[in-house]
Amino acid sequence: MYKLIKPLLFQFDPEKAHGMTIDALKTIQKYPKLLPVIKQLFHYENDLLNQDIKGITFSNPIGLAAGFDKSCEVPKALEKAGFGSIELGGITPKPQPGNPKPRVYRLVEDHALINRMGFNNLGMNKALSNLRKYSYQIPVGLNIGVNKATPYASRYEDYIKVIDTFKNDVSFFTVNISSPNTENLQSFHDKDEFSQLCEAIQAYKDRANLNVPIFIKLTSDLSLDGLQRMLSPITQTFDGIILANTTQKREGLHSYNREESGGLSGKPLFERNLELISYAYQQTSGQFLIIGTGGIFNAEDAIKMMRHGASLVQVYSALVFEGPGLTQKLNKQLVRYLQSNGYNNVKDIIGLDVK
Ligand SMILES: Cc1cc2nc3c(=O)[nH]c(=O)nc-3n(C[C@H](O)[C@H](O)[C@H](O)COP(=O)(O)O)c2cc1C
Repeated sequence: MYKLIKPLLFQFDPEKAHGMTIDALKTIQKYPKLLPVIKQLFHYENDLLNQDIKGITFSNPIGLAAGFDKSCEVPKALEKAGFGSIELGGITPKPQPGNPKPRVYRLVEDHALINRMGFNNLGMNKALSNLRKYSYQIPVGLNIGVNKATPYASRYEDYIKVIDTFKNDVSFFTVNISSPNTENLQSFHDKDEFSQLCEAIQAYKDRANLNVPIFIKLTSDLSLDGLQRMLSPITQTFDGIILANTTQKREGLHSYNREESGGLSGKPLFERNLELISYAYQQTSGQFLIIGTGGIFNAEDAIKMMRHGASLVQVYSALVFEGPGLTQKLNKQLVRYLQSNGYNNVKDIIGLDVK
């Protein structure tokens, strides 16, 4: 089906095509009778894929990565699309329009995207009221960013405002310090800035008695030394790490529009992110939760990422190129792989390829 729709969608500017997809999902949400149809088409269940992580049940390890539903507009439709979890956002405290358009590019030859959205979203209050229209049967997480207009010295407070607003409504939070499209956001990877952020989050957690896990999402452009330096504060403050967000590097690309500025996602990210994941797994002796993302296009990729240390994985770009049937395909092939190799649960393969 997607093979028929894709050439049509690819006629449009990528953000326009995305908007059309969101509109279609809104229509599905409006007619609750359509939701079971979507579930029938895309959902796949098997006990082999079940994991309990941080007190949350993930019915499969394939999650939707942040950025697809920036303002929590279509979570109920996405819940039925076969994911084991969905991460909504990035949300900022105040609404903001993001960068000027065009700001998303398809790099067709490279199976990649470049985006410089700049945290366009309707703000936390509207996003919360959107989210509260429904209840959810899968874990729903929230990705958090910083408003462009927030003064440099108080940027970490934006994360805390959003966490405080959503603390009773989501299964997990992701503190996103890795978007390349908000000036200076990535300076949170620097030692002093990161210490200040960790202290502020820890103080909030203690004050609010928070019992929702908080993950941190790092950039793909972090060196292994940089990751090594961050791991100790991360394991003390956060409940998991997402490796990794997009890259600003452009090596080895072929598409004509490869020099557009912004974050590159999709296939070219895969090997680099794999390296970060296995390094983090090795350095934490497999004792710290890692969620893998970046360039997963098929079950082999998902399996490889898990064997390199990811307990869960997330996809975005492949959905654009492969369509919504991807989740079911990945989950079915994952089960076939587990069965044919005699594994009792998907957790049995985590970290197997890390020395
Ligand atoms: C258009 C677009 C918007 C994104 N927005 C966000 C975001 O708001 N927050 C975030 O942490 N990651 C964002 N991402 C990054 C994805 O969540 C994901 O980490 C990255 O694209 C790598 O996975 P992929 O190769 O499967 O796309 C965005 C990606 C794209 C393509």
